[in-house]
Amino acid sequence: MALFKLPFTNKDTKKIHNSYDKVPDHIAIIMDGNGRWAQKKGLPRIAGHREGMDNIKRIVKIANTYNVKILTLYAFSTENWKRPSTEIDFLMKLPIDFLQHYLPELIEENVRIQTIGEIDDLPINTQTAILRAIENTSHNTGLILNIAINYGSKFEIVQSIKSICNDILQGEYKVDDITEETITEHLYTSHLTDPDLLIRTSGELRLSNFLLWQSAYSELWFTDTFWPDFDEEEFEKAINDYQKRKRRYGGI
Ligand code: FPP
Repeated sequence: MALFKLPFTNKDTKKIHNSYDKVPDHIAIIMDGNGRWAQKKGLPRIAGHREGMDNIKRIVKIANTYNVKILTLYAFSTENWKRPSTEIDFLMKLPIDFLQHYLPELIEENVRIQTIGEIDDLPINTQTAILRAIENTSHNTGLILNIAINYGSKFEIVQSIKSICNDILQGEYKVDDITEETITEHLYTSHLTDPDLLIRTSGELRLSNFLLWQSAYSELWFTDTFWPDFDEEEFEKAINDYQKRKRRYGGI
């Protein structure tokens, strides 16, 4: 049985102790509502993205305290290229800023950074910052902070199928040998367990091309709170609700 770290706060010790029982190993989050958060405050949308970036650090710290193993965050989708170029440029700089500010702390917290998505299509300085962070944290053994960037689930599945077809053409196996595991093994997430809990902030109730294959049996949790305001209390609420769910995977 996992040994949990001490609670990071004793605001409500009982609740937090209960929360350590049956914590999801893998939490995936659609960090939505940055733009609306900013608009509500009369700020430009990019101010919401910056605040959203800072919130990543706060939530990583909390997730780590809960002994979550994997935190997958949807930072930029393959569809987000449709946004105005000024916003895209800003979003592409955020990983650089984030890592400049927070990498030393993340290393201290034993966080391992990974990504899913087509990194090669990102601006070169964004790629460099990300690859350096992946390298510098590769020996860490704590929480995996898995950033989905230039990620699209349908694209991922298409790539998986293409790769399987190539394997077949190479004579590695036959069409009849393809199983669900074959598809899983060819996804970006082949080395990860599926998300146990998938959270979306900001009141939108959809998956937006995020982890469609992997979330087949994830528990879904939605909140009206915008991502920059998604805090420790909200995180606890999601965990507490998850703990009440009965995961039957189609059984009884
Ligand atoms: C969705 O909110 C959010 C995004 C498309 C970007 C999320 C990115 C971050 C939180 C920071 C990324 C930083 C790193 C380090 C990877 P929205 O802008 O669509 O919100 P809206 O629906 O209110 O307009």
